[in-house]
Amino acid sequence: MPKKTVPRQVEFPLNRAFTFVESGPVLLISTAHKGKSNLMTVSCHASMGFEPTLGICLGPWNFSYAALVETGECVVAIPHAGILEKVVDIGNCSGEDMDKFAAFDLHAQTGNSVSAPLVADCLYNLECRVVNRALAGEYNFFVLQGVAAWSNPSPEDARSFHAVGDGTFIIDGETVNLRHKMTKWKDCI
Ligand SMILES: Cc1cc2nc3c(=O)[nH]c(=O)nc-3n(C[C@H](O)[C@H](O)[C@H](O)COP(=O)(O)O)c2cc1C
Repeated sequence: MPKKTVPRQVEFPLNRAFTFVESGPVLLISTAHKGKSNLMTVSCHASMGFEPTLGICLGPWNFSYAALVETGECVVAIPHAGILEKVVDIGNCSGEDMDKFAAFDLHAQTGNSVSAPLVADCLYNLECRVVNRALAGEYNFFVLQGVAAWSNPSPEDARSFHAVGDGTFIIDGETVNLRHKMTKWKDCI
């Protein structure tokens, strides 16, 4: 019989350990402030409830920060793999000196509830209001409440993607349907 190897962990640098849990879908945050719309890339976020409520980490070094803080509104857009490179570029330049919608050939669409535009090219858009800033000072963490949701009925690519946190990205793969096992959670399916 072949000898079974016993799994063994080796120590990992603590300051890179955020990469273990970094990989939620990469988001685009759309804001509008003083007559100007802008986009930034965000990968540090957390789902906080079914309302839907989510938390995003958005630091004051971003041009988008003042727009989020002063308007208390944004749109969270879920981009697809077909625009992955644009999304990375959007996270590597500032809206202070450019119009990112025009520069990256993305289409702004007026939503229902907030002044920030939807990103029509994305898979989904969630219009949001900031509902809690208790951890904004210490963690740059803003709690958002979704107030209107949108979806693209015919996206160019249906796969979202995830940032590992080291410049590499994971594109969604196979979908596994285990609904028959969700006996305790029938309402979710
Ligand atoms: C893949 C990726 C993920 C990012 N995630 C975050 C994040 O979670 N929070 C944040 O504050 N900035 C994040 N950034 C950086 C901002 O997107 C970047 O600073 C951007 O240039 C801000 O645009 P603005 O200055 O026009 O607001 C990320 C950038 C990239 C490329």
